[in-house]
Amino acid sequence: MDLKNNILPHALPKHIAIIMDGNGRWAKQQGMIRAFGHENGTKSVKETVEACAELGIENLTLYAFSTENWNRPKLEVQTLMKLLVSSLTKELKTLNDNNIKLAAIGNLQALPKKVYKELSDAIESTKNNTRMTLSLALSYGSRDEIVNAVKEISIKVKNNIISHENIDESIINEHLYTQNLPDVDLLVRTSGEQRISNFLLWQIAYAELHFTSVLWPDFTRQHLYEAIIEYQKRERRFGKTSDQLS
Ligand code: FPP
Repeated sequence: MDLKNNILPHALPKHIAIIMDGNGRWAKQQGMIRAFGHENGTKSVKETVEACAELGIENLTLYAFSTENWNRPKLEVQTLMKLLVSSLTKELKTLNDNNIKLAAIGNLQALPKKVYKELSDAIESTKNNTRMTLSLALSYGSRDEIVNAVKEISIKVKNNIISHENIDESIINEHLYTQNLPDVDLLVRTSGEQRISNFLLWQIAYAELHFTSVLWPDFTRQHLYEAIIEYQKRERRFGKTSDQLS
């Protein structure tokens, strides 16, 4: 059965964020090396991006590489960086053909020069696209993002650009890597782990969380639909009572 028919088109999440987890375990199950899992993970990335765009999701953010992932074996880091560059080269035309804007959040300066260049070129080439924003979290850590925002704001306070009395949620938002994105509505994590792992801590304040045991390379559009259907059944109260909402 195609679960797409059970999705209410008027109540879509505006921003879906995904922690793509389980590539390594998937590869191990097949008796293969971890890189094989990451390679197959790129197929799920493609399918998820296509499915979100077709549904009319305006923002999709994928956790592709965390600040902590730099500590993985050098060869695995190299594989992930190579996969990123090859995916960008291979999919740039598809992104443009489908009017999808590419963005990146994270400490991008830490990326190898070649990756940074390829990424910046793809971002530049898709910057006027309007159907959906696909943000890749790369060398991303939420605490690092918050520390960075605090530094930027304090420099502005010191230089009298912002007065400390005026610091509010919107000022903090404007100094996060996600400055142009709305709050996350739905956060999905694959592979059965039920934790946030330093991803979008500020932005998920009111997000609905969906955990699935499916490993990322096995994640299909039907799993995405399942997550959205569950999201649409939840009552989002934002601190209010049920009665106040109705
Ligand atoms: C987590 O699985 C996955 C990652 C650290 C990387 C995700 C990267 C991709 C899906 C491929 C490239 C991405 C793009 C955007 C082209 P894990 O290695 O932690 O799995 P494990 O927990 O089973 O070991």
